[in-house]
Amino acid sequence: MSGTIERAARGMLLAAYRVGYERVARPLIFRRSAQQAHSDVVALLALADRWTWAAGLLHGIDRLASVRRPVTVGGVTLARPLIFAAGLVKGYGFEHESDACRAVEQDVNIIPGWRSLPALLGPVEFGSFTRWPRLGNPGVVVWRDVATRSTQNRVGLRNPGARAAAAFLARHAAELPAQYGINIAVSPGVDDPAEQQIEVLEALDLFLERDLRPAWLTLNLSCPNTEDDPGGHQTEARTRDLCRAVIERLGAIPLWVKLGPTLADEQYRVLLRVFHETGVRAIVATNTLPEPSPPAPDVLAGIGGGRLHTRALEVAALLLDDRARHGYTVDVIGGGGVLDGATLDDFRRLGIPALQYWSALIYRGPLAAAVIEHEAEGTFYDQHTK
Ligand SMILES: Cc1cc2nc3c(=O)[nH]c(=O)nc-3n(C[C@H](O)[C@H](O)[C@H](O)COP(=O)(O)O)c2cc1C
Repeated sequence: MSGTIERAARGMLLAAYRVGYERVARPLIFRRSAQQAHSDVVALLALADRWTWAAGLLHGIDRLASVRRPVTVGGVTLARPLIFAAGLVKGYGFEHESDACRAVEQDVNIIPGWRSLPALLGPVEFGSFTRWPRLGNPGVVVWRDVATRSTQNRVGLRNPGARAAAAFLARHAAELPAQYGINIAVSPGVDDPAEQQIEVLEALDLFLERDLRPAWLTLNLSCPNTEDDPGGHQTEARTRDLCRAVIERLGAIPLWVKLGPTLADEQYRVLLRVFHETGVRAIVATNTLPEPSPPAPDVLAGIGGGRLHTRALEVAALLLDDRARHGYTVDVIGGGGVLDGATLDDFRRLGIPALQYWSALIYRGPLAAAVIEHEAEGTFYDQHTK
């Protein structure tokens, strides 16, 4: 009985939130360009990070809006099945490592959202970080396609680099969320596999040496939005050695690997076998889909949201089918166009317990996870996660 009342009260709260966000806040936000709105959000997160009471307030709002629904996937028991994907809490870009490290010493918040976003959203993946800082691509690099509830970006792995990111997070070690992931990307433009591996391991060591222990580590093998690595590093030979070496370093921390949506079916099958053999715990499928960017059709930028959904589902289904056929133990974490209860249910029907989302934050607002989970209540998803 009290459960029914609680659900009804939550339903009313979320209905009011939806009207507020969809009729008032979102139209105002969408008056700004996607790029401008993105910068505004980063600035707002930096502000919210300053105060512990703000994080407490955000956490309180989430507690009112959501039901705790823990789920175990990829060696981690998550507080909820929706994980906020990499790409927002990744920090500013710098040209030189020394500049990024100096900023940390001067107590600059170089990773906006590190405190406030996990307070509001629960599980968040920080990064992608690369061994060295990157400024990312210049000019306008973020767009939205409202009709299809999609995002498109070619941010180009802008980040402060692993040394400064690790120093910053270590400085705030006592205040870090109880559960967070770190996403490390293979350095774009580094073609030599041995050099690639050295850079990834160095990046990882920089976090581990500072005693940072994320709940999971995602290796981003798909960097579709960078000028210097449009194809990604997703071949068998490179992947096997890399995964082995990373897992050895990680010890008890589970390794997840993030793949893009454009590989051939056979490539997915080969990589899945490699992941199983090396002990990777989960695949995040998928990253964004490269398509012509709005201002310059010859320049590609990664699609997320509605226009990614069908392809991401196809890839997830293929991986799950092959996993079952061979008895592999690697979990599949879905991602791509999880925007409402129905799209969440699409993945859940495949047997996927946990999902990553990004574009939903734009289209459904700061309580996206709570709203989507609520919309999925009473559906297939709900009946199988109680
Ligand atoms: C602006 C932006 C930046 C992103 N940056 C990263 C990144 O640095 N690393 C990464 O692994 N994924 C990145 N992503 C991809 C998201 O993590 C996510 O996989 C993708 O958007 C698909 O999810 P969605 O359909 O819910 O948007 C980025 C996405 C966006 C929109």
